[in-house]
Amino acid sequence: MAGQKISAPKGVSEYVPDRSAAFEYVRERLVAPAKSAGYKLIELPIFEDTELFTRGVGESTDVVSKEMYTFEDRGGRSITLRPEGTAGVMRAVIEHGLDRGQLPVKVWYSGQFFRAERPQAGRYRQFYQVGIEAIGLDDPAIDAEVIAIADAGFRSIGLSKYRLEITSLGDLDSRAAHRVDLVKFIQTLTLDEATAARAAINPLRLFDDKREEMQKAMADAPLLINYLSEVSRLQFEQVQKYLDALEIKYVVNPRMVRGLDYYTGTTFEFVHELLGAQSGIGGGGRYDGLMEQLGGQSLSGIGFGLGVDRALLAAEAEGVIASNAFVSDLFIIPLGEVAKVKALTIAAQLRTSGKIIEIAFGDRALKGAMKAADKSGATYVIVLGESEISSGTVELKEMKSGQTLSVKIDSLLEAL
Ligand code: HAM
Repeated sequence: MAGQKISAPKGVSEYVPDRSAAFEYVRERLVAPAKSAGYKLIELPIFEDTELFTRGVGESTDVVSKEMYTFEDRGGRSITLRPEGTAGVMRAVIEHGLDRGQLPVKVWYSGQFFRAERPQAGRYRQFYQVGIEAIGLDDPAIDAEVIAIADAGFRSIGLSKYRLEITSLGDLDSRAAHRVDLVKFIQTLTLDEATAARAAINPLRLFDDKREEMQKAMADAPLLINYLSEVSRLQFEQVQKYLDALEIKYVVNPRMVRGLDYYTGTTFEFVHELLGAQSGIGGGGRYDGLMEQLGGQSLSGIGFGLGVDRALLAAEAEGVIASNAFVSDLFIIPLGEVAKVKALTIAAQLRTSGKIIEIAFGDRALKGAMKAADKSGATYVIVLGESEISSGTVELKEMKSGQTLSVKIDSLLEAL
Protein backbone atom coordinates (compact mmCIF):
# COMPACT_ATOMS: atom_id res chain seq x y z
CA MET A 1 0.00 0.00 0.00
CA ALA A 2 1.48 3.36 -0.97
CA GLY A 3 2.59 5.65 1.82
CA GLN A 4 2.62 3.04 4.59
CA LYS A 5 5.79 2.96 6.67
CA ILE A 6 7.89 -0.18 6.54
CA SER A 7 9.84 -1.35 9.59
CA ALA A 8 12.96 -3.48 9.83
CA PRO A 9 12.28 -7.23 10.25
CA LYS A 10 11.74 -8.30 13.85
CA GLY A 11 14.79 -8.84 16.00
CA VAL A 12 17.55 -7.48 13.76
CA SER A 13 20.27 -5.23 15.13
CA GLU A 14 21.09 -2.14 13.12
CA TYR A 15 23.28 0.84 13.83
CA VAL A 16 22.51 4.34 12.68
CA PRO A 17 24.34 7.57 13.58
CA ASP A 18 25.42 8.49 16.16
CA ARG A 19 25.59 5.04 17.74
CA SER A 20 27.04 3.54 14.59
CA ALA A 21 30.34 5.29 15.38
CA ALA A 22 30.54 3.45 18.69
CA PHE A 23 29.69 0.19 16.93
CA GLU A 24 32.44 0.74 14.38
CA TYR A 25 34.90 1.57 17.15
CA VAL A 26 34.09 -1.64 19.04
CA ARG A 27 34.32 -3.77 15.90
CA GLU A 28 37.69 -2.31 14.87
CA ARG A 29 39.07 -2.79 18.38
CA LEU A 30 38.02 -6.44 18.40
CA VAL A 31 39.70 -7.04 15.04
CA ALA A 32 42.98 -5.20 15.79
CA PRO A 33 44.64 -7.80 18.08
CA ALA A 34 43.98 -10.55 15.50
CA LYS A 35 45.69 -8.49 12.79
CA SER A 36 48.61 -7.83 15.15
CA ALA A 37 48.98 -11.58 15.59
CA GLY A 38 49.26 -12.17 11.85
CA TYR A 39 45.72 -13.30 11.06
CA LYS A 40 44.61 -12.50 7.50
CA LEU A 41 41.18 -11.40 6.31
CA ILE A 42 38.83 -14.01 4.90
CA GLU A 43 35.63 -12.68 3.32
CA LEU A 44 32.97 -15.32 2.77
CA PRO A 45 29.39 -15.52 1.51
CA ILE A 46 26.54 -14.87 3.88
CA PHE A 47 24.63 -17.86 2.51
CA GLU A 48 25.90 -21.39 2.05
CA ASP A 49 24.62 -24.84 1.15
CA THR A 50 22.38 -25.94 4.04
CA GLU A 51 24.32 -29.20 4.35
CA LEU A 52 27.43 -27.32 5.44
CA PHE A 53 25.73 -26.40 8.70
CA THR A 54 23.74 -29.59 9.31
CA ARG A 55 26.98 -31.56 8.91
CA GLY A 56 29.36 -29.01 10.39
CA VAL A 57 27.47 -27.49 13.32
CA GLY A 58 25.43 -30.57 14.26
CA GLU A 59 21.80 -31.61 14.23
CA SER A 60 21.45 -31.80 18.02
CA THR A 61 22.08 -28.07 18.35
CA ASP A 62 19.34 -25.46 18.67
CA VAL A 63 21.19 -23.48 16.04
CA VAL A 64 20.63 -26.17 13.40
CA SER A 65 17.37 -27.74 14.58
CA LYS A 66 15.41 -24.57 15.31
CA GLU A 67 17.18 -21.40 14.31
CA MET A 68 18.40 -21.59 10.74
CA TYR A 69 17.11 -19.28 8.05
CA THR A 70 16.78 -21.90 5.35
CA PHE A 71 15.13 -21.43 1.98
CA GLU A 72 15.08 -22.84 -1.48
CA ASP A 73 16.75 -20.64 -4.08
CA ARG A 74 15.45 -20.21 -7.59
CA GLY A 75 17.34 -23.26 -8.75
CA GLY A 76 15.73 -25.46 -6.09
CA ARG A 77 18.88 -25.67 -3.93
CA SER A 78 18.59 -25.55 -0.15
CA ILE A 79 20.39 -22.44 1.05
CA THR A 80 20.95 -21.22 4.63
CA LEU A 81 21.96 -17.80 5.91
CA ARG A 82 25.12 -18.46 7.91
CA PRO A 83 24.36 -18.92 11.64
CA GLU A 84 28.06 -18.91 12.51
CA GLY A 85 31.42 -18.56 10.78
CA THR A 86 33.58 -21.60 11.49
CA ALA A 87 31.91 -24.08 9.14
CA GLY A 88 32.15 -21.60 6.24
CA VAL A 89 35.83 -20.96 6.93
CA MET A 90 36.50 -24.70 6.90
CA ARG A 91 34.61 -25.09 3.65
CA ALA A 92 36.65 -22.31 2.06
CA VAL A 93 39.99 -23.56 3.42
CA ILE A 94 39.31 -26.99 1.90
CA GLU A 95 37.92 -25.58 -1.35
CA HIS A 96 40.87 -23.23 -1.92
CA GLY A 97 43.45 -25.73 -0.67
CA LEU A 98 44.76 -23.27 1.93
CA ASP A 99 45.53 -26.28 4.13
CA ARG A 100 48.09 -27.46 1.55
CA GLY A 101 50.28 -24.44 2.23
CA GLN A 102 51.88 -23.00 5.34
CA LEU A 103 50.27 -24.16 8.60
CA PRO A 104 48.57 -22.97 10.62
CA VAL A 105 46.12 -21.19 8.35
CA LYS A 106 45.22 -18.08 10.36
CA VAL A 107 42.22 -16.01 9.27
CA TRP A 108 39.90 -13.38 10.73
CA TYR A 109 36.42 -12.31 9.65
CA SER A 110 33.75 -9.87 10.65
CA GLY A 111 30.14 -9.64 9.56
CA GLN A 112 26.51 -10.57 10.00
CA PHE A 113 25.22 -13.89 11.23
CA PHE A 114 21.63 -15.13 11.40
CA ARG A 115 19.75 -17.18 13.96
CA ALA A 116 15.97 -17.24 14.26
CA GLU A 117 16.01 -16.89 18.04
CA ARG A 118 13.38 -15.26 20.22
CA PRO A 119 14.55 -11.63 20.16
CA GLN A 120 15.37 -9.90 23.43
CA ALA A 121 17.97 -7.44 24.73
CA GLY A 122 21.31 -8.58 23.31
CA ARG A 123 19.80 -11.48 21.34
CA TYR A 124 19.08 -10.76 17.72
CA ARG A 125 18.13 -12.63 14.59
CA GLN A 126 20.81 -10.81 12.67
CA PHE A 127 23.88 -10.00 14.72
CA TYR A 128 27.56 -9.24 14.24
CA GLN A 129 30.63 -11.26 15.08
CA VAL A 130 34.35 -10.77 14.80
CA GLY A 131 36.01 -14.16 14.59
CA ILE A 132 39.33 -15.87 14.02
CA GLU A 133 40.29 -19.43 13.13
CA ALA A 134 43.73 -21.05 13.36
CA ILE A 135 43.81 -24.33 11.47
CA GLY A 136 46.40 -27.09 11.47
CA LEU A 137 48.32 -26.73 14.73
CA ASP A 138 47.99 -28.83 17.90
CA ASP A 139 50.18 -26.79 20.23
CA PRO A 140 48.33 -25.73 23.43
CA ALA A 141 50.22 -22.42 23.17
CA ILE A 142 48.01 -21.43 20.24
CA ASP A 143 44.94 -22.17 22.36
CA ALA A 144 46.23 -19.69 24.91
CA GLU A 145 47.12 -17.16 22.21
CA VAL A 146 43.64 -17.35 20.67
CA ILE A 147 42.10 -16.71 24.08
CA ALA A 148 44.58 -13.88 24.68
CA ILE A 149 43.64 -12.23 21.38
CA ALA A 150 39.96 -12.16 22.37
CA ASP A 151 40.84 -10.87 25.81
CA ALA A 152 43.04 -8.12 24.36
CA GLY A 153 40.15 -6.98 22.16
CA PHE A 154 37.75 -6.70 25.07
CA ARG A 155 40.37 -4.93 27.21
CA SER A 156 41.17 -2.43 24.48
CA ILE A 157 37.54 -1.32 24.43
CA GLY A 158 37.90 -0.70 28.15
CA LEU A 159 35.85 -3.66 29.35
CA SER A 160 36.76 -5.10 32.74
CA LYS A 161 33.57 -6.54 34.23
CA TYR A 162 33.71 -9.90 32.54
CA ARG A 163 35.10 -13.30 33.35
CA LEU A 164 36.69 -15.94 31.20
CA GLU A 165 35.44 -19.49 31.67
CA ILE A 166 37.40 -22.40 30.23
CA THR A 167 37.12 -26.14 30.15
CA SER A 168 38.30 -29.08 28.09
CA LEU A 169 36.10 -31.46 26.14
CA GLY A 170 39.08 -33.74 25.67
CA ASP A 171 39.98 -35.94 22.73
CA LEU A 172 37.97 -38.81 21.23
CA ASP A 173 39.14 -41.26 23.93
CA SER A 174 38.12 -38.89 26.72
CA ARG A 175 34.69 -38.28 25.26
CA ALA A 176 34.08 -41.96 24.52
CA ALA A 177 34.92 -42.94 28.12
CA HIS A 178 32.73 -40.18 29.50
CA ARG A 179 29.89 -40.91 27.13
CA VAL A 180 29.50 -44.47 28.44
CA ASP A 181 28.92 -43.24 31.99
CA LEU A 182 26.89 -40.21 30.95
CA VAL A 183 24.52 -42.30 28.85
CA LYS A 184 24.13 -44.73 31.78
CA PHE A 185 23.32 -41.79 34.01
CA ILE A 186 20.85 -40.29 31.54
CA GLN A 187 19.02 -43.63 31.32
CA THR A 188 18.08 -43.18 34.98
CA LEU A 189 16.25 -39.93 34.13
CA THR A 190 12.74 -39.57 32.74
CA LEU A 191 12.98 -37.37 29.67
CA ASP A 192 10.42 -36.00 27.26
CA GLU A 193 10.70 -37.12 23.66
CA ALA A 194 12.50 -34.07 22.28
CA THR A 195 15.08 -34.08 25.07
CA ALA A 196 15.68 -37.80 24.69
CA ALA A 197 16.21 -37.29 20.96
CA ARG A 198 18.72 -34.53 21.61
CA ALA A 199 20.53 -36.65 24.19
CA ALA A 200 20.72 -39.53 21.70
CA ILE A 201 22.67 -37.34 19.24
CA ASN A 202 24.78 -35.52 21.82
CA PRO A 203 24.26 -36.33 25.51
CA LEU A 204 26.38 -33.33 26.54
CA ARG A 205 23.50 -31.11 25.37
CA LEU A 206 21.60 -31.94 28.55
CA PHE A 207 24.08 -29.89 30.60
CA ASP A 208 22.97 -26.91 28.56
CA ASP A 209 19.25 -27.39 29.26
CA LYS A 210 18.20 -24.23 31.08
CA ARG A 211 15.03 -25.72 32.66
CA GLU A 212 15.31 -25.89 36.43
CA GLU A 213 14.21 -29.51 36.71
CA MET A 214 16.86 -30.48 34.15
CA GLN A 215 19.55 -28.50 35.93
CA LYS A 216 18.62 -30.39 39.10
CA ALA A 217 18.49 -33.73 37.33
CA MET A 218 21.96 -33.13 35.87
CA ALA A 219 23.53 -31.94 39.14
CA ASP A 220 25.09 -35.35 39.82
CA ALA A 221 25.86 -36.24 36.21
CA PRO A 222 29.43 -37.39 35.53
CA LEU A 223 31.62 -34.53 34.27
CA LEU A 224 33.78 -34.87 31.20
CA ILE A 225 36.67 -33.10 32.86
CA ASN A 226 37.10 -36.14 35.15
CA TYR A 227 37.46 -38.43 32.15
CA LEU A 228 40.22 -36.61 30.29
CA SER A 229 42.85 -38.87 28.76
CA GLU A 230 46.44 -38.34 29.85
CA VAL A 231 47.19 -36.40 26.66
CA SER A 232 44.12 -34.16 26.99
CA ARG A 233 44.73 -33.52 30.68
CA LEU A 234 48.32 -32.47 30.02
CA GLN A 235 47.26 -30.22 27.14
CA PHE A 236 44.64 -28.54 29.28
CA GLU A 237 47.22 -27.99 32.03
CA GLN A 238 49.57 -26.44 29.48
CA VAL A 239 46.86 -24.04 28.27
CA GLN A 240 46.33 -22.92 31.85
CA LYS A 241 50.05 -22.51 32.40
CA TYR A 242 50.29 -20.22 29.36
CA LEU A 243 47.25 -18.21 30.44
CA ASP A 244 48.86 -17.77 33.88
CA ALA A 245 52.06 -16.55 32.22
CA LEU A 246 50.00 -14.05 30.22
CA GLU A 247 48.29 -12.99 33.46
CA ILE A 248 44.89 -13.73 31.99
CA LYS A 249 42.43 -14.64 34.73
CA TYR A 250 40.02 -17.52 34.16
CA VAL A 251 37.79 -19.93 35.99
CA VAL A 252 37.46 -23.58 35.02
CA ASN A 253 33.80 -24.36 34.44
CA PRO A 254 33.45 -28.10 33.75
CA ARG A 255 29.70 -27.71 33.13
CA MET A 256 30.12 -25.32 30.23
CA VAL A 257 28.46 -26.56 27.05
CA ARG A 258 28.94 -24.63 23.87
CA GLY A 259 25.95 -24.33 21.56
CA LEU A 260 27.68 -25.99 18.60
CA ASP A 261 28.57 -29.68 18.26
CA TYR A 262 32.01 -29.47 16.67
CA TYR A 263 33.96 -28.65 19.82
CA THR A 264 36.79 -30.78 21.23
CA GLY A 265 39.58 -30.02 23.71
CA THR A 266 39.91 -26.46 24.99
CA THR A 267 36.66 -24.49 24.95
CA PHE A 268 35.97 -21.08 26.46
CA GLU A 269 33.45 -18.34 26.97
CA PHE A 270 33.65 -14.71 27.98
CA VAL A 271 30.75 -13.78 30.24
CA HIS A 272 29.91 -10.17 31.04
CA GLU A 273 28.51 -9.30 34.45
CA LEU A 274 26.20 -6.47 33.46
CA LEU A 275 24.33 -7.99 30.53
CA GLY A 276 21.70 -10.14 32.25
CA ALA A 277 20.47 -13.24 30.42
CA GLN A 278 22.47 -12.71 27.21
CA SER A 279 25.81 -12.36 28.93
CA GLY A 280 28.04 -14.28 26.53
CA ILE A 281 30.15 -11.67 24.77
CA GLY A 282 32.32 -14.22 23.01
CA GLY A 283 33.28 -17.86 22.90
CA GLY A 284 35.16 -20.49 21.03
CA GLY A 285 37.38 -23.50 21.26
CA ARG A 286 39.00 -26.40 19.45
CA TYR A 287 37.22 -28.37 16.74
CA ASP A 288 39.64 -31.12 15.89
CA GLY A 289 37.31 -33.32 13.81
CA LEU A 290 35.50 -30.65 11.82
CA MET A 291 37.68 -30.47 8.74
CA GLU A 292 37.51 -34.21 8.19
CA GLN A 293 33.76 -34.16 8.74
CA LEU A 294 33.49 -31.62 5.93
CA GLY A 295 35.45 -33.76 3.50
CA GLY A 296 38.91 -32.32 4.11
CA GLN A 297 42.05 -33.82 5.58
CA SER A 298 42.29 -34.50 9.28
CA LEU A 299 43.57 -31.19 10.64
CA SER A 300 42.82 -29.63 13.99
CA GLY A 301 41.62 -26.09 14.52
CA ILE A 302 40.74 -23.50 17.12
CA GLY A 303 39.03 -20.14 17.01
CA PHE A 304 36.54 -17.76 18.51
CA GLY A 305 33.51 -15.64 17.69
CA LEU A 306 33.03 -12.38 19.56
CA GLY A 307 29.61 -10.73 19.69
CA VAL A 308 30.07 -7.16 18.49
CA ASP A 309 26.51 -6.16 19.45
CA ARG A 310 26.99 -7.50 22.96
CA ALA A 311 30.49 -6.05 23.35
CA LEU A 312 28.98 -2.65 22.50
CA LEU A 313 26.15 -3.15 25.02
CA ALA A 314 28.76 -4.17 27.61
CA ALA A 315 30.87 -1.09 26.87
CA GLU A 316 27.82 1.12 27.25
CA ALA A 317 26.82 -0.64 30.48
CA GLU A 318 30.32 -0.11 31.88
CA GLY A 319 30.26 3.51 30.72
CA VAL A 320 33.55 3.19 28.89
CA ILE A 321 32.37 4.39 25.51
CA ALA A 322 31.25 7.83 24.42
CA SER A 323 27.93 7.60 22.58
CA ASN A 324 29.18 10.18 20.11
CA ALA A 325 32.64 8.93 19.23
CA PHE A 326 32.59 10.62 15.81
CA VAL A 327 34.26 14.01 15.64
CA SER A 328 35.28 15.89 12.53
CA ASP A 329 38.41 17.99 12.53
CA LEU A 330 37.10 21.03 10.73
CA PHE A 331 33.74 22.46 9.79
CA ILE A 332 33.82 25.05 6.98
CA ILE A 333 31.05 27.61 6.65
CA PRO A 334 31.17 29.28 3.21
CA LEU A 335 29.30 32.54 2.67
CA GLY A 336 28.31 32.93 -0.99
CA GLU A 337 29.03 31.14 -4.23
CA VAL A 338 32.74 32.01 -4.57
CA ALA A 339 33.36 30.85 -1.00
CA LYS A 340 31.55 27.61 -1.67
CA VAL A 341 33.94 26.75 -4.49
CA LYS A 342 36.89 27.62 -2.26
CA ALA A 343 35.44 25.51 0.59
CA LEU A 344 35.14 22.50 -1.71
CA THR A 345 38.80 22.77 -2.82
CA ILE A 346 40.14 23.35 0.71
CA ALA A 347 38.15 20.38 2.00
CA ALA A 348 39.29 18.11 -0.83
CA GLN A 349 42.93 19.02 -0.15
CA LEU A 350 42.81 18.56 3.62
CA ARG A 351 40.98 15.25 3.26
CA THR A 352 43.88 13.81 1.26
CA SER A 353 45.90 14.20 4.48
CA GLY A 354 43.36 12.13 6.36
CA LYS A 355 41.54 15.02 8.03
CA ILE A 356 37.79 14.81 8.47
CA ILE A 357 36.31 17.95 6.95
CA GLU A 358 32.65 18.94 6.72
CA ILE A 359 31.12 21.84 4.82
CA ALA A 360 27.92 23.67 5.64
CA PHE A 361 26.10 23.48 2.32
CA GLY A 362 22.75 24.96 1.50
CA ASP A 363 23.42 28.70 1.88
CA ARG A 364 22.25 28.73 5.49
CA ALA A 365 22.43 31.89 7.55
CA LEU A 366 25.60 32.11 9.64
CA LYS A 367 23.77 31.46 12.90
CA GLY A 368 22.17 28.26 11.66
CA ALA A 369 25.47 27.09 10.17
CA MET A 370 27.28 27.68 13.49
CA LYS A 371 24.66 25.57 15.22
CA ALA A 372 25.23 22.78 12.72
CA ALA A 373 28.99 23.02 13.32
CA ASP A 374 28.39 22.72 17.04
CA LYS A 375 26.16 19.68 16.61
CA SER A 376 28.65 17.96 14.32
CA GLY A 377 31.10 17.83 17.20
CA ALA A 378 33.77 19.40 15.00
CA THR A 379 36.99 20.39 16.75
CA TYR A 380 37.46 23.58 14.70
CA VAL A 381 35.30 25.81 12.57
CA ILE A 382 36.13 28.50 10.00
CA VAL A 383 33.87 30.99 8.27
CA LEU A 384 34.82 31.65 4.67
CA GLY A 385 33.59 34.95 3.24
CA GLU A 386 34.80 37.42 0.64
CA SER A 387 37.29 39.15 2.96
CA GLU A 388 38.82 35.85 4.09
CA ILE A 389 39.29 34.77 0.49
CA SER A 390 40.87 38.03 -0.59
CA SER A 391 43.20 38.19 2.45
CA GLY A 392 43.93 34.45 2.34
CA THR A 393 43.54 34.33 6.11
CA VAL A 394 40.78 32.75 8.24
CA GLU A 395 39.86 32.78 11.91
CA LEU A 396 40.28 29.22 13.14
CA LYS A 397 37.88 28.80 16.03
CA GLU A 398 38.25 25.97 18.52
CA MET A 399 34.71 24.95 19.36
CA LYS A 400 35.36 23.76 22.89
CA SER A 401 37.18 26.81 24.22
CA GLY A 402 35.79 29.39 21.81
CA GLN A 403 39.36 30.65 21.24
CA THR A 404 40.30 31.87 17.78
CA LEU A 405 43.56 32.06 15.89
CA SER A 406 44.35 33.83 12.59
CA VAL A 407 45.66 31.25 10.15
CA LYS A 408 46.72 31.42 6.50
CA ILE A 409 44.42 29.24 4.39
CA ASP A 410 47.52 27.56 2.97
CA SER A 411 48.69 26.60 6.47
CA LEU A 412 45.39 25.16 7.69
CA LEU A 413 46.73 21.62 7.67
CA GLU A 414 49.58 22.46 10.07
CA ALA A 415 47.24 24.46 12.28
CA LEU A 416 44.83 21.56 12.59
P1 HAM B 1 28.83 -18.75 19.50
O1 HAM B 1 29.14 -18.89 20.96
O2 HAM B 1 27.61 -19.41 19.00
O3 HAM B 1 30.11 -19.26 18.75
O4 HAM B 1 28.75 -17.23 19.15
C1 HAM B 1 29.81 -16.35 19.49
C2 HAM B 1 29.27 -15.06 20.06
O5 HAM B 1 28.33 -14.46 19.17
C3 HAM B 1 28.47 -15.23 21.35
O6 HAM B 1 29.33 -15.30 22.46
C4 HAM B 1 27.64 -13.96 21.36
O7 HAM B 1 28.39 -12.88 21.88
C5 HAM B 1 27.37 -13.72 19.88
N1 HAM B 1 26.02 -14.15 19.53
C6 HAM B 1 25.60 -15.41 19.27
N2 HAM B 1 24.27 -15.43 18.99
C7 HAM B 1 23.84 -14.15 19.09
C8 HAM B 1 22.56 -13.51 18.92
N3 HAM B 1 21.47 -14.18 18.58
N4 HAM B 1 22.49 -12.17 19.11
C9 HAM B 1 23.60 -11.47 19.45
N5 HAM B 1 24.82 -12.02 19.61
C10 HAM B 1 24.95 -13.33 19.44
C11 HAM B 1 30.23 -19.32 17.37
O8 HAM B 1 29.47 -18.80 16.61
C12 HAM B 1 31.48 -20.03 16.92
N6 HAM B 1 31.51 -20.03 15.44
C13 HAM B 1 32.71 -19.39 17.49
C14 HAM B 1 33.94 -20.12 17.12
C15 HAM B 1 34.83 -19.81 16.15
N7 HAM B 1 34.36 -21.25 17.66
C16 HAM B 1 35.48 -21.64 17.06
N8 HAM B 1 35.75 -20.76 16.13
